[in-house]
Amino acid sequence: MKAANYNEFGGSEVVKISEVDLPELKEGEVLIKIKAAGVNPVDAVIREGQYKDMMRHNFPIIPGWDMAGIVEERGHAARRFEVGDEVYAYARRPEIQWGTFAEYMVIPESYLASRPKSISWEEAAGIPLAGLTAYQSLYVAGNLKEGQKVLILGASGGVGSFAIQLAKVRGAEVLSVASEKNHHYMKSLGADHTIDYKNNDIGTAAKEIAPEGVDLIFDCTSGESLMQSIKALKPSGKLVSILNQGEEIDDEIDFQFVFVEPNSKQLDHYRQLVEEGKITVEVSKVFSIQEAPDALKQIQTLHTTGKIVIAPQTN
Ligand SMILES: NC(=O)c1ccc[n+]([C@@H]2O[C@H](COP(=O)([O-])OP(=O)(O)OC[C@H]3O[C@@H](n4cnc5c(N)ncnc54)[C@H](OP(=O)(O)O)[C@@H]3O)[C@@H](O)[C@H]2O)c1
Repeated sequence: MKAANYNEFGGSEVVKISEVDLPELKEGEVLIKIKAAGVNPVDAVIREGQYKDMMRHNFPIIPGWDMAGIVEERGHAARRFEVGDEVYAYARRPEIQWGTFAEYMVIPESYLASRPKSISWEEAAGIPLAGLTAYQSLYVAGNLKEGQKVLILGASGGVGSFAIQLAKVRGAEVLSVASEKNHHYMKSLGADHTIDYKNNDIGTAAKEIAPEGVDLIFDCTSGESLMQSIKALKPSGKLVSILNQGEEIDDEIDFQFVFVEPNSKQLDHYRQLVEEGKITVEVSKVFSIQEAPDALKQIQTLHTTGKIVIAPQTN
């Protein structure tokens, strides 16, 4: 099969597109024809070797943890899905090697959920990693409730776009932070208020909107933006970050770091929300498999609007 892959850690120049043999299909596994693969900042972080001491890896590495595709073949006892079923998955395995920027992948069926059929393959492939991150941060760690106020830092990106919509599904009031060019976009997703991090102290701006403070801060950017925002947190509020692991965070603050876990049940819930028209997916660009190095360059800017996706099939 054709796949983006690399044999050493480094910049986007280490990524080449070549023929790679598929692994053998084992018990409980399925072969998926990948129709689209979501691109996430972590794909570039891994390519640079930043996870090499945290997760086992084997070269050549095929990047990519998100996919939507078709079940082509089933291994022994893999019977949850039929051949031809349309599925999607956050395909992070315990070992880094077989990713989704490829024409096919072999994966245990437990990772899979039926994909939402009301949207395109590219839109479906944009959901799993970013969507689950927002879900596990707002609904599980943050326990967001109707009527609460949530401040989302980095709200126009992959994770933030889902976070705005999930917060509105819950009935929360959303204060969203990104540069001004993305304010119209964030409002279109349902954000009640927008804050430009470039021309404002975020915490001061948030307190002007919500003088009593916010119940939850969801941090998708960290750094100075996070530090500025903390003054807008209610004393009883919670801070959830997907980047900061507690560095420089006051012990008094109810704080939690979230590292997204694969969860096919939560993907089932996403399918429902999408099919009910409550969640949409903005795909700002689709790349071919040959353009995988460019997709990784784009995602590394940390200024992508919505999601970018690779479409590996040429037919
Ligand atoms: N722990 C986990 O499980 C987990 C899971 C997913 C992602 N992540 C990490 O979370 C981060 C966000 O992921 P993503 O996929 O949403 O990235 P993304 O699509 O690149 O989005 C980045 C967002 O941050 C905004 N932004 C950039 N600089 C900012 C600043 N100084 N202050 C406030 N907002 C700023 C961007 O808005 P503008 O374009 O307007 O600047 C954009 O809305 C990445 O670093 C990623 O690696 C962690």
